[in-house]
Amino acid sequence: MKFRLPHLPFGHAELEPFLSSEQVDTHYFGHHKNYVEKVNQLVIEQGLPDATLEYIINNQDGKLFDNGAQAWNHTFYWMGLTPLTPGPNANGKLMEAINRKYGNLEGLKERFIESAAALFGSGWCWLVATPDGEIDIVNTQNADNPIRLERVRPLWTCDVWEHAYYVDYRNERKEYLRSAWRHVNWEFIERNYSTEEVPNMTRLMTDPSPTAPHKNA
Ligand SMILES: [Fe+2]
Repeated sequence: MKFRLPHLPFGHAELEPFLSSEQVDTHYFGHHKNYVEKVNQLVIEQGLPDATLEYIINNQDGKLFDNGAQAWNHTFYWMGLTPLTPGPNANGKLMEAINRKYGNLEGLKERFIESAAALFGSGWCWLVATPDGEIDIVNTQNADNPIRLERVRPLWTCDVWEHAYYVDYRNERKEYLRSAWRHVNWEFIERNYSTEEVPNMTRLMTDPSPTAPHKNA
């Protein structure tokens, strides 16, 4: 199947001042698009035209894994951001899990930022759900994705490759992380937490609708 760059759920300038439109454009059209084009080329070259991104992440290595996982990871990252910032449902099961593990929302935020800031080199920091319904924070290096870790489901991620923030923040990763936290799409996290399935980015990236940028781009 041919993967498409997904529509962003916001205009490219709508996350300002967290991310400038230049930062979003560079990341989306420069990096994400490149991963999508490469994975499309590699599935053909390697005789796997029907492979889903989730299959590639779980079963492939090398360049195909790297580009397939990066295509997935970036879609998941964008979907987890929002210009609007309503918090999680204060009485929902997700909030109960946050309180059990981290005391409160502020505790989760601080632990997440601490973990992401400490990641050496390039990678991703993830909020995940464990099979017993608890939540956890994991870092992965380079393109790696926690769906390769048995029975752990991603709920949210923050891209901590330097290309995600260098235009706006230079080397100030922690500032980028603090700003990102103000744009968490809690509705997305709550949906991922409640569905108990691995989020399906292939579906979002094989939609037959055209891949024109968001109307506000
Ligand atoms: Fe990135």
